[in-house]
Amino acid sequence: MDGSPLERVQQSRVLTFGGIALCAIFAWAFSGSIAVSDPAPKGHASQAIPYDPASEEPPEELAEYMSRLQVYTHKLSLSVKAGNDQLAGLYLHESVALLEQIQKVFPEYERIPVAVYIARLALGAYEPLKASLAKAATERAAGELDAGMDIVMQACNACHTASQVPFIRVVRNDFNPFLQSFDPLTSSKP
Ligand code: HEC
Repeated sequence: MDGSPLERVQQSRVLTFGGIALCAIFAWAFSGSIAVSDPAPKGHASQAIPYDPASEEPPEELAEYMSRLQVYTHKLSLSVKAGNDQLAGLYLHESVALLEQIQKVFPEYERIPVAVYIARLALGAYEPLKASLAKAATERAAGELDAGMDIVMQACNACHTASQVPFIRVVRNDFNPFLQSFDPLTSSKP
């Protein structure tokens, strides 16, 4: 530090400026750390967790429940076709239980009175099939189970029409895409 007086003045200015800049950086970092670690007031501990809208549950989708209902309905139809009363009874039960669950989850969905429509159009439609399944096979008229199954399918489409989605048309389909045999146990081959 033994330069000319002018050089010394210049050096001290550089040092002063550097010092101010360093202080500013510390002040900024320190204020930041205080803000982050600022303890939440007593009784509001949850406020310390930052709000993250992405972590909220997405709203339930009616279509996803319908997708499951479609699977049960297809399996019900395949069981009826295979003459498997036991399995048909199981899928009838599951279909009705799912429809009742849908009523609870979606009393209304996008202004569609889902619960009321299910009560008026769908639940009763399972009764003829249920009554036929309760009979012994020998007591049934020819085609009785199929007629009962058709009533169920008509109810699906009636509700789609009432709900302004008439373009969603369900039809019976005898193709079995499942990893499952629908044949009654008694007729299964060894
Ligand atoms: C409340 C009356 C109602 C009843 C009863 C009903 N649906 Fe639906 N369904 C709807 C509505 C409304 C939608 C459209 C949902 C949306 O907009 O996301 C739908 C959508 C669907 C879809 C399209 C979603 C997908 O997975 O591709 C299928 C398939 C379906 N329903 C099958 C059925 C079957 C099978 C039945 C009868 C066992 C049935 N639905 C009974 C109202 C109904």
